[in-house]
Amino acid sequence: MKKQSKNPLLLIKFLTLHSLLVLSASQDFDFFYLVQQWPGSYCDTKHGCCYPSTGKPVSDFGIHGLWPNRNDGSYPSNCDSSNPFDASKISDLVSQMRSDWPTLSCPSNDGLTFWGHEWDKHGTCSESVLDQHSYFSTALNLKTEINILRALEDAGIHPNGSNYSLSSIKDAIKRASGHTPWIECNNDSSGNSQLYQIYLCVDSSGLGFIECPVFPNGKCGASIEFPMF
Ligand SMILES: *[C@@H]1O[C@H](CO)[C@@H](O)[C@H](O)[C@H]1NC(C)=O
Ligand SMILES: *[C@@H]1O[C@H](CO)[C@@H](O)[C@H](O)[C@H]1NC(C)=O
Ligand SMILES: *[C@@H]1O[C@H](CO)[C@@H](O)[C@H](O)[C@H]1NC(C)=O
Repeated sequence: MKKQSKNPLLLIKFLTLHSLLVLSASQDFDFFYLVQQWPGSYCDTKHGCCYPSTGKPVSDFGIHGLWPNRNDGSYPSNCDSSNPFDASKISDLVSQMRSDWPTLSCPSNDGLTFWGHEWDKHGTCSESVLDQHSYFSTALNLKTEINILRALEDAGIHPNGSNYSLSSIKDAIKRASGHTPWIECNNDSSGNSQLYQIYLCVDSSGLGFIECPVFPNGKCGASIEFPMF
């Protein structure tokens, strides 16, 4: 009896320490970036691109990735080599992935290399929240929730090689999504700054869009090109 009276305190100490360790080991990020890329801006650079073996993707933004990130701007990567990408776990998603998450890397391939890279580098860092199948299906569902190309076209911003103000692009996406996007630019082969990737933030459960706690570094010009694809 005497012995037991001391145990509850020890037990509480142990449990507190234990749950802190488990929490920090299992979720080392605060939110996600859903990153979508404009294929025209990937392909018209100096290094160029290759269409997937399944053919030229449709003229639309494609998913680049769903990237766990921390509120201080840093991010974890390559978190669990014991859980490598396994294509058999997402066989039911592959046809949607071919259209919404197409690879553009060379040499031409079916996309498995791209998707595997995204899982191994980023997906393994949120595996306590989203297993492989949920990681990919969550990204696909989020993309479907906000149609970025339609938001831009509704605002008169077309992928036709014209220049548009950065603020008009941000405003159009904010109006359609309710959230402030971050825009990444790259340079076309003549050195013109162009609309390359669009970042929107997602809560740490992958359930919905949020305002970004922090934006990546980098800056576009005030006026950027929106190339054809
Ligand atoms: C692109 O579309 C805009 C809006 O319709 C138009 O004002 C512009 O002239 C077009 N640019 C080109 C290069 O066709
Ligand atoms: C877009 O802006 C760049 C840089 O100012 C310019 O070189 C290019 O000709 C412009 N493109 C169009 C279609 O006006
Ligand atoms: C685009 O070109 C400018 C000037 O040539 C350079 O400063 C900038 O780093 C380039 N941007 C990217 C994303 O490569």
